[in-house]
Amino acid sequence: MASSSYYVTTPIYYVNDQPHLGHMYTTIAADVLARYGRMAGRDVFFLTGVDEHGQKVQQAAKDRNITPMALADQVVERYASLWPELSISHDDFIRTTSARHKESVQAMWRRLRAAGAIYKGVYEDWYCVPCESYWTKIQLKDGNHWEDKQCPDCKRNLERVQEESYFFRLSAWQDTLLKYIHDNPDFIAPASRRNEVLRFIESGLHDLSISRTTFSWGIPVPDDEGHIIYVWIDALSNYLTAPGFPDEQRCMHYWPADVHLIGKDILRFHAVYWPCMLLAAGLPLPKRIFAHGWWTVNGKKMSKSLGNALRPADLLAKYDVDVLRYFLLREIPFGQDGDFSEDALVRRCNTELSNDLGNLLNRSLSMLKKYRDGILTPASTEEAIDRALIADIEAMQRDVDAALQQQAFHQALERINALVRHGNRYVQENEPWLLAKNNKQQRLDTVLYHLVEGLRLICIQLIPFMPTKMAAMLHQIMGKPVDLNAIRIASIGGWGLLSKGHQCLAPSPVFPRIG
Ligand code: MSP
Repeated sequence: MASSSYYVTTPIYYVNDQPHLGHMYTTIAADVLARYGRMAGRDVFFLTGVDEHGQKVQQAAKDRNITPMALADQVVERYASLWPELSISHDDFIRTTSARHKESVQAMWRRLRAAGAIYKGVYEDWYCVPCESYWTKIQLKDGNHWEDKQCPDCKRNLERVQEESYFFRLSAWQDTLLKYIHDNPDFIAPASRRNEVLRFIESGLHDLSISRTTFSWGIPVPDDEGHIIYVWIDALSNYLTAPGFPDEQRCMHYWPADVHLIGKDILRFHAVYWPCMLLAAGLPLPKRIFAHGWWTVNGKKMSKSLGNALRPADLLAKYDVDVLRYFLLREIPFGQDGDFSEDALVRRCNTELSNDLGNLLNRSLSMLKKYRDGILTPASTEEAIDRALIADIEAMQRDVDAALQQQAFHQALERINALVRHGNRYVQENEPWLLAKNNKQQRLDTVLYHLVEGLRLICIQLIPFMPTKMAAMLHQIMGKPVDLNAIRIASIGGWGLLSKGHQCLAPSPVFPRIG
């Protein structure tokens, strides 16, 4: 990654529900990218936040007999206290009820209107409240959803809407957006989602109703206050508000975003509506939109009615935060659906973290303590087996960088794990206990040095995934506490930094086995 700005976002989460596994997942993924970007020397802006407006939130508040604002305040508190518990290192947290956001959304509206992208008409079609999504009769007929009047996405009942509305000329951007997506193969990922978007656009873009008059919980249309701005126009604009919009100069320091991480269910909003809005407003498009898959729990969809939504607090009460972070990004390729089971989590922790990584740390530092009282001596000569280890570490660093540029978290972790296994093989093949017994002192020094220096570089690559655990491991390796925020790969990511006489601590277990 070059030294420049890096702007990563999560969706902003609706405040009608408490945080669950899905929210935790995207935010942890974004955190890994942000932490890695900072370590790579980039000027990172990591944004998350909450989506507080819309009919769905208004209804949820009504059901609880409180105002939408009171509901939002309650749920925001949950998110604000959850993020530190998950070691989330966001730079900004946006609320769509904030004054800065209202100003930004209304400025966006004026800009679109000035560009001729908005007109007034009458909306007579269907609306899905849970998805906050409009459906025309034509779209419903296309997908055979006309008979049952159910949302093609979530299959819940649609509402009939007939009201005066402002429209956004989405149809005007069909060809431009198609061409853009064809010309920029990395714009939408993974490829299956990109194809889905292409098919949707090819089926024809209809102008989008972007204001409502039948409820009030939202940002008013400038100069026509009876109209409330469509919640998705409001929500998507958050990505511009946070870096400074409508102050364009300030905003452009970070905009365009390097990557919007989203779930697959909100792809159309991000990969069709949002780019068209930006095109119409004459603003640059985000560089990449990555839609990840959905978690099921023990094979079942998480849902309020089944009462099986996994709550972060329950998971954190049972499992270490870094083990959870690791599991979520290691278990399934980002972009695919996957199943969350505690058995799978325990298995991963006990094999890859305790048996492989924990064991490599433990045996390396134990031998260093036993044979050298914890003191390192760099190699005077290296054998092929040593050079192979170093070459593998350097290749791993390049591979991890490439994987993270593609948001392929599981690949990055698999690659690091392959190196951990290499490290354990290196111990078996060199048999340091025999070197000690046979008085091969120089060779013993060389082997111990390669193990500890290799571990140091492995830990650095794992910091974005497991910051607290890696701080604990690096503490033992460096012989003193480390400041993770100060770590830059360019200055400490090279081989051979540990010098003669460096003192490590005796090992203490970092990944206890579960169960
Ligand atoms: N408010 C909108 C986003 C606006 S962004 C400008 C929204 N909010 S949400 O709270 O309903 O969903 C937020 C995210 O959670 C979505 O990306 C969605 O994909 C994700 N998840 C919800 N359930 C999930 C799983 N079971 N698994 C993984 N992610 C899931 O949509």
